[in-house]
Amino acid sequence: MFKKIATLKTAADFKEYLNSLKISLPFDEKIQSGTGSPLAQPRKINGRTAGNSIAVLPMEGFDGTSEGNPTAASFRRWQRFGMSGAKLIWNEATAINPEGRGNPHQLMMLDSTVGELARLREATVKTHKERFGNTDDLVIGIQLTYTGRVAHPHDLNHGEPKIVYHHPLLDERMGLKPDYPVLTDAEISHIADDFIKASVLSQKAGFDFVDIKHCHGFIGHELLSAVDRPGRYGGSLENRTRFLQEIVAGIRAKAPGLDIAIRFSATDFVPFRYDKEGKGEPVPFTGKYRYAFGGDGTGLGTDLTEPVAFMDILAKLGIKLISVSVGAGYNVHLLRPSAIPACDVYQNPEDPLIGVARLINVSAEMKRLRPNFLYVGCGYSYLQQWLPNVAQGVVSQGKADFAGIGRIVLCYPEIAADILSGKPINQRLLCRTCSDCVTAYRNGLLAGCYALDDYYKKSTYGDQLRLLKSKK
Ligand SMILES: Cc1cc2nc3c(=O)[nH]c(=O)nc-3n(C[C@H](O)[C@H](O)[C@H](O)COP(=O)(O)O)c2cc1C
Repeated sequence: MFKKIATLKTAADFKEYLNSLKISLPFDEKIQSGTGSPLAQPRKINGRTAGNSIAVLPMEGFDGTSEGNPTAASFRRWQRFGMSGAKLIWNEATAINPEGRGNPHQLMMLDSTVGELARLREATVKTHKERFGNTDDLVIGIQLTYTGRVAHPHDLNHGEPKIVYHHPLLDERMGLKPDYPVLTDAEISHIADDFIKASVLSQKAGFDFVDIKHCHGFIGHELLSAVDRPGRYGGSLENRTRFLQEIVAGIRAKAPGLDIAIRFSATDFVPFRYDKEGKGEPVPFTGKYRYAFGGDGTGLGTDLTEPVAFMDILAKLGIKLISVSVGAGYNVHLLRPSAIPACDVYQNPEDPLIGVARLINVSAEMKRLRPNFLYVGCGYSYLQQWLPNVAQGVVSQGKADFAGIGRIVLCYPEIAADILSGKPINQRLLCRTCSDCVTAYRNGLLAGCYALDDYYKKSTYGDQLRLLKSKK
């Protein structure tokens, strides 16, 4: 059994538990407030300034219309990001075309939706202004995505995979036969064109930057491990990053001034599956596992040689703003450490704190090896009451430039403002990482906090979630 974070009452308890797990995390005993606080430090991003060192991470709400427009729920969600107090808001995965959607409710950046997405951004800015007065130092970006392998554009129960290579383990899991079509070079080039179009539209909508998503198993990430793919987009790292290089060239030509960011998974493991007790275990693989970008060939370890070479390519492309994540949808404990995994996901194969330390330390190591970027860290929500201490520790020790916060913002939208103003953390609003937000979206419901936010908890979606959980 893993110790619950809530039971680690003192800093000494917390540190002792970290020691027992043989992990370490930066930790500041005293949380500072006011302009001298490490988390209050402004950061320059592409000629703009983010007024502090806290970022809201991309989090989809699975609440768009079938046309890809935002709904009232999307507006509420983004406005809450605006009231968080974070000065960098990195908005969610937004599909660049209909076939690239991860789910039928994903937002899309199209000619037909750009007006509503511009309104969504404006509403976020307006809320921030009402709450904090100044928006000159608010930087807002949007993550652009093409799902690829796990695309579900029309029906959550019916995948429409677009793959860039035949993956020995994932193909088997998904029932894809050896003759299942692989995206051609021409099709990949067409998808790159759609990223460029969506970037032009994002600039029109007022976003300061676009993130060309390369994490969590989606197309950019899958291309990074396309070592066996022949042709222009596979094999060498140069070829595996051609997709990104073409997108960046197109954005520079067609949307000058728009900043480009990258969120990528800097390491990855083999897919995990249920063992006999329902716990996660790695799918067995014999030989060298070559399909994990940033992996060491064992399927369960890290080698940052290629991610560092990738950063050198990013430097040449003029990309500065980075979010380093880990893993993919097939090994979720790596990317989203949780006390209770979603109800149709394997149980934790490791203490979630080990996952938190991996996320924070891999990003810190990338920053140590390639310091000339702005790093947005992630994986902090599981830390709960110790989040401010670790976040401040990471930033004050220069191990990241921004503390990026995800799930905790869903239930405690003003957490950044509270930390920065020296208010004690509101323990009642802490995310306990119960994964209801994830269970909900995996079952076609809106993603939000069903434990603490009445908007979801008391809605018909809340009733549906409770019903489906009672049946599992
Ligand atoms: C409901 C939900 C939606 C998410 N959507 C995205 C997304 O659109 N893009 C992305 O890169 N990560 C997404 N993530 C992952 C988060 O950005 C973040 O990396 C992860 O939750 C770990 O941070 P945390 O511990 O602060 O939550 C999502 C996570 C959740 C819980």
